Parts: sequence; structure tokens; C-alpha cells
Amino acid sequence: MKPTIKYPRQEYLARFSGETIDIGEVINSRIPVRARIQVNTLTHHTLVVGSTGSGKTHTVSIIVNELIRKTSKYRVLIIDWHGEYMKLINKAEYFEPRRVPLNIIEQNNIYDFIELLQDSLSLTPPQVFILEKIFENKNHMINSIYDLKNILEDIEDEGSWFRESRLSLLRKISPLTRDSLREIFGSSRDKLVEYINTYENPIIIDASRIQDPYIRRIYVSILLKKIFREAIKRRIGSHNKLLVVLEEAQNVLGRNNYIGIITRMLSEIRKFGIGLVIVSQSPSQLVDEAMLNTNTKIIHSIKSLNDLEVVSKSLYLPLNIEKIIPYLDVGEAVLYTRGLKKPVIIKVKEF
Ligand SMILES: Nc1ncnc2c1ncn2[C@@H]1O[C@H](COP(=O)(O)OP(=O)(O)O)[C@@H](O)[C@H]1O
Ligand SMILES: [Mg+2]
Repeated sequence: MKPTIKYPRQEYLARFSGETIDIGEVINSRIPVRARIQVNTLTHHTLVVGSTGSGKTHTVSIIVNELIRKTSKYRVLIIDWHGEYMKLINKAEYFEPRRVPLNIIEQNNIYDFIELLQDSLSLTPPQVFILEKIFENKNHMINSIYDLKNILEDIEDEGSWFRESRLSLLRKISPLTRDSLREIFGSSRDKLVEYINTYENPIIIDASRIQDPYIRRIYVSILLKKIFREAIKRRIGSHNKLLVVLEEAQNVLGRNNYIGIITRMLSEIRKFGIGLVIVSQSPSQLVDEAMLNTNTKIIHSIKSLNDLEVVSKSLYLPLNIEKIIPYLDVGEAVLYTRGLKKPVIIKVKEF
């Protein structure tokens, strides 16, 4: 039988300041209480976890719809890993990746770019060395991934180790230069900032249209990196704040395969008006930063012991709440957010 606990009235004591959004009801208080999140905590990032089918995507859609209904101060960008948000978000702008092309190579941020490739393609130190050497050679004109590929094909080998590393680097980069991706990675003009600043409705970028998960991951990493970079330059996030939804976050924030530059930016990016919603089925697979840098946590039903342990340790969950997590129904969750004295159990509302 599912264990239950009820908080008496005086123990609930939510103290919210500023605007809040209503995402459902608290089901473990003795009196009816709405489940709320302060709008200004959203830039302190949100973590939504739970097994497949536990209600994560639904919950995120409620947050986005309520936020847009409540305030015009926020823009929203959803990086839609599975292509499922279009039917869930009221009035959204839908984009396939080819309509949001990303120039991979930014001339003025070459070392960031090399690091991103290093992480997303698992480059070895010799492969990184070769890339640095290519970019540092002033005779090379590299404006696109295609130029890079050509140079890699033509450059003279400095010995057998060089040849070996160069060829395997070439093999790793080649998938990005497929004809079908030319519209995505070949463009020299990014439209991202323009879109974010133009559309008041949530923007959905349907990453699922990139079928190869290896390429999808690289696309999403570059997308995030650009968002962070542009926010630091104050080109987005300053006039309106920006909420970025990242589904299947273990692809970029995975403990064993994280993208370093994105992980590092998690803590500082809030200062620049960007709030992330990190969604994943497995908290134990995420880098510690995902737990540490998220102020709001929404924990749907979790069955795996590893995941339960990570969640209850980082939240100092009372034992009676921890015990309930595996038995939560679809749409039920433990909510912990600024303004609450302790975690509460909620039922996220329906549309
Ligand atoms: N709070 C809720 N109220 C009603 N139905 C819900 C709720 N949360 C999820 N569902 C339904 O349960 C199913 C799985 O939810 P979903 O959000 O896709 O799970 P997840 O993203 O965790 O895999 C969907 O059909 C969804 O409509
Ligand atoms: Mg989902």
C-alpha cells in the first residue's frame, strides 16, 4: 500500500515573494494548498526528474504555459529532444533545426569550439593538438566545418602518429559534413538571437528531426553554448529573461559524457537572465552541478535505488517522503523550491 503523510497546517508555511505560477495542488497538507513556484526562482534553474512516463514532459509544459500566461517578462526556448512539445504548448513557434542553422566555427572563440568538439566527439589529446595547430596556422581560412574537413584531408603529416590521429579525427568530423546536414551546420548566419528576440510565444526547436543521436547531441550542445555566449554578451536574457528547457539532459550533462563548457556555465548563467529546466529520467547519471545548481526540484516517481539515493542525499529528504517516491502516481511529484520550508508532495494539474 502507498504510504501517506500529512503536514499539519503550521508546518507547511510557504513564504513566497513576488509573482508565482500555479502548477497544481499540494496533496500532503491538511488544508487545500496550491503548489506554486516563484517566477524569480526560475533563473536559479529547475530540475525535473522521474522514470519514463512519470509525467516530466507534462509538468514542464504546465510550467511553460503558466509562465507565459502569467508574465510577459520571460521568453521560452524548448530544446525538444523527442519532438513531443508542439501538441502540449499553447501557441508555440515551431522550428526544425534547418531553420535554426548553427555555424559551428566561431572565429573569435576557437578554443571554446575546440573544447566543445573535444567533449562531444571524445577527441584524444593528439587530435586536439592537431586541431589547435590547424587553427593557429594563419594561412588556413576556416569558416565552416567543410573548410576544416578539407584542410584535414590535405594537411601534410608530421610522422606516423600524426597521420593516425589525423585520419581518426577526420572520421569523427565527417558525419557533421553529410549533405543532409549542410543546411544545419553549413550556414554562416545564426538566426537564434533574432528568433529569441522576435517571438513572444515559446520557441520549440525540434531536435528529433536530426535522426542520428550522435549529431543531435552535438547540435544541442552547440545550441546551448551559443545561448550562453549570447547571454553573456547581453544580446539575450537582459531585456526579457529566457527559460530554456533541456530534455534528456544526460546527453549534455551526463556524468560520464558531459560537455565541459556547458557544465561550467550552469552556475554563472543565472546572472545573465537565463533559467534552465533540466529534465532527465536518471538523476544519478547527471553531473553533480545539475543537482547543486538547481534551486527548484520536481521529483516524479523514481524506481531505481541509485537515483533515489542521489535525490534524497542532495535534498536531505525526510525518510517518510523518500519512501513515497517510488509509489507516486503519474503526475504526482515531490516539489522543493525556494519559499517552502520543506519538500511537499504535489499533484501537477491537467491541461
Ligand atoms: N499531471 C498529469 N495529469 C494528467 N495526465 C498526466 C499528468 N502527467 C502526465 N500525464 C500523462 O501521462 C503520460 C506520460 O507523461 P509524460 O509527461 O510524457 O511522462 P515523461 O515525460 O516522464 O515520460 C502522458 O500521456 C501524459 O499526458
Ligand atoms: Mg518526457
